[in-house]
Amino acid sequence: MALSWRKLSIADLEVIFALHMAATEKVGRPELIRPETPEFFRHMVTDAGEMVGAFDDQGLLAYGVLQWDLSIEEDPFGPLRLDRSTRLAKFAGSSVRPSFWGHGLHSQLIARRVKVATELGFEQAYSTSAPGNHRSWTNLLGEGFRIRALKEQYGGHLRFLLLKDLEDRLQFEPVEWCADEDIAGHRRLLDAECEGIDWRHAGERHEILYGRRA
Ligand SMILES: CC(C)(COP(=O)(O)OP(=O)(O)OC[C@H]1O[C@@H](n2cnc3c(N)ncnc32)[C@H](O)[C@@H]1OP(=O)(O)O)[C@@H](O)C(=O)NCCC(=O)NCCS
Repeated sequence: MALSWRKLSIADLEVIFALHMAATEKVGRPELIRPETPEFFRHMVTDAGEMVGAFDDQGLLAYGVLQWDLSIEEDPFGPLRLDRSTRLAKFAGSSVRPSFWGHGLHSQLIARRVKVATELGFEQAYSTSAPGNHRSWTNLLGEGFRIRALKEQYGGHLRFLLLKDLEDRLQFEPVEWCADEDIAGHRRLLDAECEGIDWRHAGERHEILYGRRA
């Protein structure tokens, strides 16, 4: 089926919020996904960011948020070890209609926002993802993000902080695989200045490959 893509506007707010609620409800684990308000999305389509959307004949099928006003966020520069002058944007959430999960749309949402962010002159993009939400971070790793930190945020929920160099200048040497639920292992590797660079299935679970900058 042919999908049409376009930038979302204030006229789309109602369907954006409905899709956010439907996807979150289907996951059924509120601790994994930050709950958003219609007000948040209004900011994102007006003054604080830009949203990309895919449509089919039933309406909005998927959206992705690119946010550049980071003043409403917990400080990302310290945990990401970035200079505060870095031109940094946030990939601040995405949802796909549950009946369409598993068709690779999330990767397309990421790739499209990488293009927009690059065209807008950002140097780096970051995103947060719960260790338990493998559908989120596997696709971010697949599109060139690296896990660079692990911290509690959004009111005490554990999140990976993932970063992508939009100019793709970095090379890594593999160091060690770590099971996704091994939180102590992630902390140890991140403290040793390794970064999560790839993933693989390990039975029912997932493992993350940590590497060190070459
Ligand atoms: C995370 C999300 C955007 C992924 O979108 P997507 O386009 O389906 O991504 P993919 O095509 O890569 O498929 C993701 C997974 O969904 C699985 N899937 C497919 N159909 C499914 C269904 N009916 N029910 C449950 N899972 C299904 C796929 O098998 C795949 O799982 P795997 O990684 O274990 O193999 C989507 O699941 C979603 O909207 N989730 C709720 C919001 C969210 O978590 N957003 C990201 C963080 S803000």
